[in-house]
Amino acid sequence: MPELTATAGACPAIRAAIAGGAGYVGGELLRLLIGHPLVEVVAATSTRLAGRRIDTVHPNLRGLCDLTFTAPDRLGEADVLLLALPHRQTMDVLPAMLGTAKHIVDLSADFRLRDPAVYAGYYGVPHTAPDLIGAFVPGLPERHRAELKDADLISVPGCMATAGILALGPLAHLLDGPVEIDARSGSSGAGAGAGEANLHAERSGAMRVFAPTSHRHQAEITQETGLAVRMSATGVEAVRGVQLLCHGTLAAGAGEANVRQAYRRAYQDEPFVRVVAKRRGNYRFPEPKILLGSNFCDVGFAVEPQGRRIVVIAALDNLVKGAAGAAVQCLNIRLGWPERLGLEFPGLHPN
Ligand SMILES: NC(=O)c1ccc[n+]([C@@H]2O[C@H](COP(=O)([O-])OP(=O)(O)OC[C@H]3O[C@@H](n4cnc5c(N)ncnc54)[C@H](OP(=O)(O)O)[C@@H]3O)[C@@H](O)[C@H]2O)c1
Repeated sequence: MPELTATAGACPAIRAAIAGGAGYVGGELLRLLIGHPLVEVVAATSTRLAGRRIDTVHPNLRGLCDLTFTAPDRLGEADVLLLALPHRQTMDVLPAMLGTAKHIVDLSADFRLRDPAVYAGYYGVPHTAPDLIGAFVPGLPERHRAELKDADLISVPGCMATAGILALGPLAHLLDGPVEIDARSGSSGAGAGAGEANLHAERSGAMRVFAPTSHRHQAEITQETGLAVRMSATGVEAVRGVQLLCHGTLAAGAGEANVRQAYRRAYQDEPFVRVVAKRRGNYRFPEPKILLGSNFCDVGFAVEPQGRRIVVIAALDNLVKGAAGAAVQCLNIRLGWPERLGLEFPGLHPN
């Protein structure tokens, strides 16, 4: 790795490389892994920016990272390889990368859906590495912790999918009929290469419905929870953050107490899921604003008085619990480290 000019971390235990290091998720992986006490970041790739200092693209890392970007075809070996590349392209390059690292964590959509036909339906192209899909363990510790302990191929779910699964998973047996999800997302969800649609003049002040029906992440939520889900998504005035409002109907005989109990059972020992159950205040329901930069997903709910209608709300930072933070949490589990290592910080308030 000739572009390597220095390393980060005082007492490294494993060497991590990042493919797609110039993007938003790649930048967040760099931020978290450089701060991780048992990881040394040895390389981050960029096609366009090979040879340029990483902190020219991610200026928040000035003084913390002396690396330069590596060209993808010069990426050497590492203990762990994290892929933050676009979907559809990841499945083409991943097979050739299998021997380059003992552990691979993919953050794209390409190895999340078990059924290649479902993938083709949502992503518009046939899967080019269908035989590999089954080898990936979902990077969702709250539901796959035991499998993650041995997993060498990990696929982190989508940001809105993570919020939806964490919100609805524990309630699947209490719900009757399909769930309608209204999702809101900040502009970073579209990535650094989003182009004209994300120009300040076009995006600022907009409430842009970008998926009125069938948002791709609904397939992941259905796959994981078994629930029929219909999901729309809107881009709102925020850089980071995802918030889901999930509208459902409680099964006959189920009520608020059952919901509370289901969440308590599922999350009382979870380090990064908080059930928000406040009666008053600006933050009585999950709100991405106070989660920014943190690895928490907050979940809350309201049941219609004397009714069966329930609205479940979930929020997270799309680049952290919805991407890079989840990847680090999975890595901690796989390597037998404390699950909170390198992730022990709250969001910002005020911000
Ligand atoms: N943004 C989010 O909130 C979020 C959350 C969860 C998951 N994800 C997923 O994470 C992945 C990265 O998302 P992102 O938002 O970081 O996207 P991004 O900002 O657009 O970054 C994509 C990165 O991939 C590189 N790249 C593009 N085409 C490539 C190719 N053909 N071969 C190799 N490298 C290529 C780009 O840099 P170069 O062109 O310089 O190589 C860039 O560094 C996507 O699959 C996305 O769906 C995103």
